[in-house]
This record gives sequence, structure tokens and C-alpha cells, in this order.
Amino acid sequence: MNNQPSAESMDAYWMPFTANRDFKQSPRLIASAKGHYYISNDGRKIYDGFSGLWTSGIGHCHPKIVEAVQNQVATLDLCMGFQLGHDSAFELANKLTHLAPEGLDHAFFTNSGSESVDTALKIALGYHRARGDAGRTRLIGRQRGYHGVNFGGISVGGIGPNRKMFSANLINGVDHIFHTHSLEHAAFSHGQPKWGAHLADELEQLVALHDASTIAAVIVEPVAGSTGILPPPVGYLERLREICTKHGILLIFDEVITAFGRIGAPFAAERFGVTPDLITCAKGLTNGVIPMGAVLVSDTIYQAFMQGPEQSIELFHGYTYSGHPVAAAAGLATLQVYREEGSFEQARELETLFAEAIHQFDDHPMVIDVRNLGLMGAIELAPRDGAPGARGLDVHKQCFWEEDLVIRNGMDTLQFSPFLNSRPEDIQQMFAAVKRVLDKTT
Ligand SMILES: Cc1ncc(COP(=O)(O)O)c(C=O)c1O
Repeated sequence: MNNQPSAESMDAYWMPFTANRDFKQSPRLIASAKGHYYISNDGRKIYDGFSGLWTSGIGHCHPKIVEAVQNQVATLDLCMGFQLGHDSAFELANKLTHLAPEGLDHAFFTNSGSESVDTALKIALGYHRARGDAGRTRLIGRQRGYHGVNFGGISVGGIGPNRKMFSANLINGVDHIFHTHSLEHAAFSHGQPKWGAHLADELEQLVALHDASTIAAVIVEPVAGSTGILPPPVGYLERLREICTKHGILLIFDEVITAFGRIGAPFAAERFGVTPDLITCAKGLTNGVIPMGAVLVSDTIYQAFMQGPEQSIELFHGYTYSGHPVAAAAGLATLQVYREEGSFEQARELETLFAEAIHQFDDHPMVIDVRNLGLMGAIELAPRDGAPGARGLDVHKQCFWEEDLVIRNGMDTLQFSPFLNSRPEDIQQMFAAVKRVLDKTT
């Protein structure tokens, strides 16, 4: 490969969630992006089968978002966000809460999914305290859940490697319900597995163990994403909602991936007809162009904080860049494009084709499960003996170098997140390329 940077020139950058030493021997570098393609440093046009990192559903460098960002950065680059405001943040909060399920009427802005999660957990704890129910301090997550990388998020999260280095310092008073994945009962399910709603009853067990009066909130991804796409069993989210309501526990949906069309609706809450008390989001809020996240909360939660002297701060929490003008401009432009182009409906229409295309791998000898919901999909490969994750990484690399295709691997699970406005033939060609790679992978 020509023009690859030297090892020394790459040494300073400690890359996130990357095998740094392996990557730097043969770096996969991107120079630019447009629409559905990246252009690599070596000039190849590479199809992006992951829409950025679940972020860029309407394609890279969308002209309307680029224009909005360019205008905003030249007009108001930054405005102090504490005790000072600007129109775009208020407008975005209005538009966002209109898009959200009924009753989620307020938005707190953050800069990422991880910050949204920690913000939501803090709001949940603060809410109970504000109501005089300060004993509710316990947080419940789910095994295999991914809620970002901050201390709250990894504590309620359920992915072993993300926790083990920090295990002595995770926050106190957290418990987990079971994950919903079962090769035995639900492998190769199309969409939501029929088996598994009963796993929500594990929450009743934790209530019996800890007592409801000690539990503040339960957080789950409606469709678990980073762990390898685990759609909720039919009836599972409804059951969680029932149990939370019965015991006065707040339900948080972490929709950092599932919001903004990824499963053919503005939010998974709408798609599944289950309304949580809080929603976290990020990624698709700005189509990934500028980092931004948000926590949507019910009016009841918001009003619980709006007490006491009016000149006092109600929530001692916030980020320098909360509601940043350039991010807000990107968010407004993105929501407008979703509306104008009918992006969520486009995604919904592609679902069947995507499901059929990914389930062609059900019979592949190397594959042990295939899962899909909306435009989220996973092909789980059998691991190599003694080398878990190696096969998945090899497939990712071969797709990049030999097929001009970016897909993601989480260990040995290949993950797919095509554009909301994909061309059907591109989805088919992507899976044809994956098949060529799998057929020759050992
Ligand atoms: C469900 C969920 N929550 C939180 C996060 C963390 O988001 P970020 O990487 O923006 O901090 C992610 C990232 O993929 C996610 O999928």
C-alpha cells in the first residue's frame, strides 16, 4: 500500500475502541465522504455499510446540514450556555419534543450518548429526591447492555470487558436483569423473537430482593445495539413498562442508536408502542455531523425539579457545550431533512428487503445466528478455536481491503446499519460482498 503514514507518525493518537497496534500496521484511513461512500486515503470509493457509527442515516455531508453548519459557525460560534441562551437551542428542543412520544416534553442537551446516559441517571435520582423519596437510589441495567463509557453508563451497562478494568470503582447500588439472547430458543428469529417476554419478570425478582422503595430507575436499550443487535422479545418491553409503573420505578429507554429512523420510526418507543419516562438520544440527532445528545423527560419529572425559589438553579448539572449553537443548527437541519425526505418512512420501506438479504446467511456453515430489526442487523459467526473475535476482525478487514466495504464487527458478530435512504441494490450488493468474504474465510 502506497502513501501509508509511518508507524511513528501514528503513535501519538490513542484510538478509541481500536486494536491500536494491529491497526497501525495497516491503517484503514479515510480522506473524505459524500453520500453513501467514503473515499479512502488510497483513493478507493468505499461503501459505508454502517452509516458512520450508527450516526449518519441520511448520508455523509448532506448539503443542507453542511450549509446550516457553515452559516451558524460564521454567525454565532458559541454562546455561554449557563444563564445565557440562544434561539436555536430552544427551537431544537421544541422540534425534538414534538417528534418524541407524547408526554416527553422537555429536552436537556449533552454532547454524546454517554453524557446523555449519565445525565438521565442523575435526573432519575434527582427526581425521586425532589419528591421527598430520597431512598430510591438503586439503578437497574441489563446484562449485555451498552450505555456508553462514563462511570454511570458502564455501571448500568452489562458488557464485561467495558467494566472489568474499572470494576472496583463502578457506582454503588446497581443491579442487572438478564439479557434476552438465547441461541437455544431464538436463533435466526426474523425481527422480534417470540420467545423471551418472561425475562422481564426478572425485574419483579429484583424488586422482591431490594424492595421497590430503594429503586430509582431501570435503563434498557429497546433494541440492544452494540452487544450485537438483540431485538426485544414480543411483549417484553410492555412487561417492563407494567412492572415499572406498578412499583413507581422510572423507565429509561436508551435510544442512542434506535432513535431517528433506525427502526423506521422517530423513536423505538413509538415503534413498540411503549412510552418510557426518559429517553436518551444522540448520533442521528445531528446525523453525526456535530457531536450532540439529548435527554427527553416527561413533564412530571421536569415539574418535580421546578420548585423552590425561582432564582435558584434547579439541577446542578450541565456541560459547557450543552445546546451548542453549531450543534443545534446541525440538529435543526437534520430534523428538517428527515421531515422533507420522509427518511423514517424510507427506512421502514427497506426493512423487508434488508431482512431477506441478511437472512440468506441463515444456512451458512460459519454462521450461528442472524438477527434483525428495522435497519439494524447482525450475523454472528462461530468463533475460531482459542481466538474469539479474530474471525470477525478478519472479515471486517477483508471487506475493507478487498470489497471496498465498511462493516463493523463486535468480536465475531458482524453488524450492519445501512442508510435510511439506501438504494435496494446497494443493500443486496453489500451482502453479496460479505458472502464472497465469508465463503473464503477460515
Ligand atoms: C445505546 C447506546 N448508549 C450510549 C452510547 C454512547 O454514545 P457515545 O459513544 O456518543 O458516548 C452508545 C454508543 O454507541 C449506544 O449505542
